[in-house]
Amino acid sequence: MSRPGPVYQGPVGRPTGEVARTAGQAYAAGRNGASGGSGASTLNQNGSLNKSDLNRGGPDGGADDRGREGHNTSVRVTGWLRPAWVEVDLGAVSANVARIRKVVAPAAVCAVVKADGYGHGAVQVASAAVAGGATHLGVALAEEGRQLRAAGIEVPVLVLSEPPGEAMQLVVDDNLTPTIYTEAGLGSLLEAINSNGPERRKPFALHIKVDTGMHRVGASPEGAVELARAVAAQPQLCLEGLFTHLAVADEPSRPFTGEQLHRFEMVVAGLASRGIRPPLLHAANSAGALAHPGARYQMVRPGIAVYGLAPAASMESEPSVQALTPVLSLKARVSYVKEVAAGESLSYGLRYRLPEASVVATVPLGYADGVPRRLSEVGGQVLVGGRRRPLAGTVTMDQVLVDCGPAGGVQAGDEVVFIGRQGDEEISAWEWAGRLGTIAYEVTCALSPRLPRIYT
Ligand SMILES: Cc1ncc(COP(=O)(O)O)c(C=O)c1O
Repeated sequence: MSRPGPVYQGPVGRPTGEVARTAGQAYAAGRNGASGGSGASTLNQNGSLNKSDLNRGGPDGGADDRGREGHNTSVRVTGWLRPAWVEVDLGAVSANVARIRKVVAPAAVCAVVKADGYGHGAVQVASAAVAGGATHLGVALAEEGRQLRAAGIEVPVLVLSEPPGEAMQLVVDDNLTPTIYTEAGLGSLLEAINSNGPERRKPFALHIKVDTGMHRVGASPEGAVELARAVAAQPQLCLEGLFTHLAVADEPSRPFTGEQLHRFEMVVAGLASRGIRPPLLHAANSAGALAHPGARYQMVRPGIAVYGLAPAASMESEPSVQALTPVLSLKARVSYVKEVAAGESLSYGLRYRLPEASVVATVPLGYADGVPRRLSEVGGQVLVGGRRRPLAGTVTMDQVLVDCGPAGGVQAGDEVVFIGRQGDEEISAWEWAGRLGTIAYEVTCALSPRLPRIYT
C-alpha cells in the first residue's frame, strides 16, 4: 500500500530514493499515490511548488533552494527531512466543485482560492477547481492573481476587493478582473488601461461591489449606481458583474440575508432602469450557495466548501455539506518515544502530570507550523494507531508530546494524524475550531508555509 509521507529511518535517518514530482505533475497524473511504491521512495515534498512558483522556492533546487529570483518573501521548506506535512486531495477539490455546480446550476462557480487556497496551495487548488467545472477564480490580492497567471491558469480571475491604485497596472497587464467601488479606483484602472496605449481591442471587464449591509467594502447602493453609469460611459470598460457579500449566510435562520438580497436587487433594478444590465450578478459565498437558493443569481463564490468544509459548525450535518469531501489532512510521524515514570510532568510549565507510568511520543510539529499552542490546553487530540490520544503538555514551537498511556504500542515512525482520518477515527478542522473558539477557515489558513504540501 502506498504510504504518503516521508519514510522514517530512525531519529537521524534521511529519506532515500526521492521521486521528484511537481504539484502540476501530481495533479496531471490524477489521484496518484504520494509514494513511489517501494517503501524507500517518497514523493518530493516540494509538491507544493512548480516551476512557475519560483518566488517560493522550487522543486528542483533541493533543501536550500530559496530566493532563486531574489525577491521571495515567504519560504516553504523544500527539503524532505522532517516527517511532518499537509496532504491535499486534489481529486476531492474537483469533486467538491462538481458537487457545488450541480447544486447551484445553472449558476456558474467562481472558486475562491485566496490566502494560498485557504492554506491548501492556490495554484494546485485552482487547477483542480477548474477541472471540476469552476469557470472563474476569486482572489483577495492582485498578487495572488498574478501567481495564478504565472502558473498558466487562464480562466477569469476576480480580485474580490478593489485593488490599491499601485496594483492596477498589474491587474491590467495580467488581465485580472478588478472589483471597483470607488471613483479613485475607477480612475486608477482607467489610467492603467490607457497607459498601455489608446486602443484595446476588447473592453476591459470589471465588477462593481455594492455594500448591502456587511459594511466591510463596497459602494453604497446609490454610489454603485453612479459608478455603473461612469463605467458605462467609458468605451474601454465593460461592466461584467455586480455583486455583494453576505454577512450571515452561514446562519440560515437569520432574516438579514433576505434584507441584503433585497437591497442588492434594488440596485440591480436601478441599473436596469438606466439600461445597464451587468451579465453576472453574484452574492453567495459557500453558505449562500448551499443554503440560500435565492442568492445564486448567475454565479456563486464558494471558498470553504471547495475545501470540503462546512461554512459553520452548525451546518456540518446538512446534506449538501455532508456530500462534500474534506480536502486537507495534517500528518506527521513519531520522532521519538520514551517511557516516563508515574508522577512526572511534561513539556513547558510542567502542566501535564502523568498519573501512571506511560509511553510518551514526541511528534515534530508545533505552533510554528500552525498547531496552536492552546490546543493542548483545550483537550486537543491526535490519532496514532487508529486511536485518539491526548496532546500532553504545552505545544512547543516545533514539537508536541502525545500521551500514549501505560500500554503504549507506539513506535518511532508511526503516522500521527492531527487533522484527517486514520482507521475509523477522524479529526476535522472544525473539531479544532470548536475547541479553540474559532472557525475552520482560520485553522487551515494558519498552517505554515514551513509545512510541505503533498498533492494526491
Ligand atoms: C467576497 C468573498 N466572496 C466569497 C468568499 C468565500 O467565502 P466562503 O469561504 O465562506 O465560501 C469570500 C471569503 O471570505 C469573500 O470574501
